[in-house]
This record gives sequence, C-alpha cells and structure tokens, in this order.
Amino acid sequence: MQTRNLENGAVEIIDFDITKVTPEIAEQVKQILLKELVVVIKKQDTNPQNFAKLISSIGGISNWTQCYYDIDGNVLGVPTSEPDPYTWDPESKFPVQRVTGERNKEGQFTGIFPLGKLDWHCNLNGPDRADGVALQAIHGAEGTVTSWNNTSLALKHMPDELREKIKGKYASFYYNPENWADIVNEGQRKFMLANRHHYKMWIEQENAGGTRGLYLYTTNDCKIEGDDDFELYHELKDYLFDKRFIYDHHWETGDIVLSDQLLTMHKRWQEPDEVFEKRLLNRITFRLSNTGNPPLFVEKNKI
Ligand SMILES: [Fe+2]
Repeated sequence: MQTRNLENGAVEIIDFDITKVTPEIAEQVKQILLKELVVVIKKQDTNPQNFAKLISSIGGISNWTQCYYDIDGNVLGVPTSEPDPYTWDPESKFPVQRVTGERNKEGQFTGIFPLGKLDWHCNLNGPDRADGVALQAIHGAEGTVTSWNNTSLALKHMPDELREKIKGKYASFYYNPENWADIVNEGQRKFMLANRHHYKMWIEQENAGGTRGLYLYTTNDCKIEGDDDFELYHELKDYLFDKRFIYDHHWETGDIVLSDQLLTMHKRWQEPDEVFEKRLLNRITFRLSNTGNPPLFVEKNKI
C-alpha cells in the first residue's frame, strides 16, 4: 500500500479502490492509521456499504445505534444489531449516520451537526468511547474544510522544558458539548446532553500502535492537575494548536479521512447555512486501539 505525506501531520493512501476492499486491505489501513493518526483516501466510490466494509474491518461500527437513515436521508429505523456490510443485501439501503444540514420534507434535520459551530473536538469524550472516526464526503462538500490537529507531531517537536511540565500529569474533564458545538438538531441535543460526565485522563498517551501523543480536550471543561491558574493549560494549548501541527482537508466528493481520536482533534471551518444545508458526509466511529481500560484512565490510587 503506497502512501505520501501531506502537510502537517497527515498521510494519503494513493493506490486505493474502496470497491475492492477486503479485511486484509483494511488491516493494512489500520496499521497506517495507528502510526500516522490522520489518513486521507481521496475520491473514492460513495456507496456506503463499501465504506462500512473498510471501517468495520478496522474496528467495527461503534455508532450503529445512531445509523437510522439511509444515505439519501430516508428513515430506516434504529438497527436491531450491528449491520454486517459483507453479508448485507446490496439491494437494501445500508444504514448510515449522516453529518449534514439537509432537511426532510417536514423541515426536520436528517443528520448530526447540521449547522453552526463545530469547534475543536474528538470522539473520545471519556476513556470508554470509540477512539476512531471516519468521514466520507458524499456531496456538496467541495470548498469546505475540516482540520486535524496531530498531537504526535506536536510531541515530537515539543521543547524539553514544556515536556517536563506535563510529565506524569493528568487532566480532569467535564464532557460539555455546548462548549464546542451548536447542537441545533433536537434529537442529537438530547442524546449528547444526557451523556455529560466527568472524567480524568493522563495527558501523555500511547495508542495500540505504539504512537505517542497527547490527550488534552481543550474545549471540554478541562483542568490540568495542580494548574490552578491555568498557566500550563494555556501554554500547552497555544503550543498544540500551532499551525505546524494542523492538517487542513479541503473536501472533494468521495474523499475519506480516518483519524485516531485519542491523539488528534478536529474542527469544521464555519460556512454559511446554505453551504451546510447542501453538504453531506457519512460518519462511522470505530474501535482503533480497543481501549476502555488503563493506561488511558487515571488510576484511582494515583489521584
Ligand atoms: Fe467530529
């Protein structure tokens, strides 16, 4: 599998055809993802069944209970079990989770994060959440941009003095999605707000591929151990979000971006409502490192 480096912490797989994906091919993509954290595959076929084959072979479809639309925005209902894209009848519409401002005939939104702000965030809102996200642009995404922040790259270039300050430290978080998103879809709003909770994680982390980086979810409520004046928080935040560590993806139809959600964050660049109302991404979350246990957590006897 051939890759090339993109700027600021992403790689592109260049010899890829998603219509021919197999579990073996998906395993190769997984290994690249664990090492590189942000993987781009451009201009692929947009059949959601093929996308689901790739991602489910990497780490299952974690968000399958949220996949109650088909790709065209017709309601299918909540699946009763995780759909298997390898055995799914191709004549039936495959269930997906849509990220879109598109509305149905009644004017209701048919996707998550339809409009407005979607600032820096990641799917790992707590150590038991899925630590992988994949997005594919289906239509209307040209001219829109999503950025990824690669903390492994940031850690590699981190001055010794700053690295010393975070050594062995954890941060406390409160999952507070209204800090980073305008949640204008009422169904999604209820779902997300019901999930608010406190958690603590070590700042320096390592994924299952041995790649080291940082977890500092700056847009949830976030406080570093012992950092009462938030001096270290601001120093670290300013450093992490330096342009050198941020990859900007300019979407084209069919583009896929997979990302490690332990060691990267991402944000959508703001566009007028009219743009998001025509834009559709397909989203799957998945288990990349099979996490959910220490060392992600702060162990109780160390607090
Ligand atoms: Fe996201």
